[in-house]
Amino acid sequence: YKRITTQSLIEMKHNGEKISMLTAYDFTMAKMVDTAGVDVILVGDSASNVMAGHETTLPITLDQMIYHASSVVRAVGRALVVVDLPFGSYQSDPKEALRSAIRVMKESGGHAVKIEGGSEIKESIKRILNAGVPVMGHLGLTPQSIYKFGTYTVRAKEEAEAQKLMEDAQLLEKLGCFAIVLEKIPAKLAEQVAKSVNIPIIGIGAGGGVDGQVLVIHDMLGMNNEFSPRFLRRYANLWEIMTGALANYHDDVKKGDFPNEKEQY
Ligand code: KIV
Ligand code: NA
Repeated sequence: YKRITTQSLIEMKHNGEKISMLTAYDFTMAKMVDTAGVDVILVGDSASNVMAGHETTLPITLDQMIYHASSVVRAVGRALVVVDLPFGSYQSDPKEALRSAIRVMKESGGHAVKIEGGSEIKESIKRILNAGVPVMGHLGLTPQSIYKFGTYTVRAKEEAEAQKLMEDAQLLEKLGCFAIVLEKIPAKLAEQVAKSVNIPIIGIGAGGGVDGQVLVIHDMLGMNNEFSPRFLRRYANLWEIMTGALANYHDDVKKGDFPNEKEQY
């Protein structure tokens, strides 16, 4: 099969073909996602939450993101691998942003970076794009700004914030970003944004009127039973399946049932 490129995603939008995207943070999961035919794998800084157990995405470091991303890249044959630039690796100045993007590309082998924000980070996006590194934008609920927002509720419900989001999306397109993630905003606004730009809009909690969807893999596989926002669809209940299997193993060892005659040398 052909490798997915940033260009293929733009073609998908123009052909009206929806884009599928999921996160992955390690070799084994990335292999499954790629085998399933998912178009884009995001090595999200949500690794900070689901892999490391932090409450927010802020603590994860660039080195840790590169470790996750390099593990994912080794597993993938078809999907486009996009890597989040973590909090603190691009906000200080455009040169730092470029250095961080270059480290991701060189040390992980990922195919693109994703950065949260609009006009505030314009110069950084320009610099990274000038170096030949594809950039995916991220607007709406941007979790690296959680302490500014105060809550994880829906963004851009008010006219002023909706207007700024629309302008930011158009700016990101103009700068040369190849796609934009819109997180947790009203479906109607997301659809308007998708119609007003020629680059793909990938939604999470942004309704069905956009060009593609992304979910955090641990959430959609039901690996945690605590997180259940309205936008999440659970495709499996791996929490139950896995804790059940682990408890059975524990019982079998306690009973002396494992290993049996055939399971030894
Ligand atoms: O880090 C992440 O998982 C993300 C997606 C939710 C878009 O940025
Ligand atoms: Na992220």
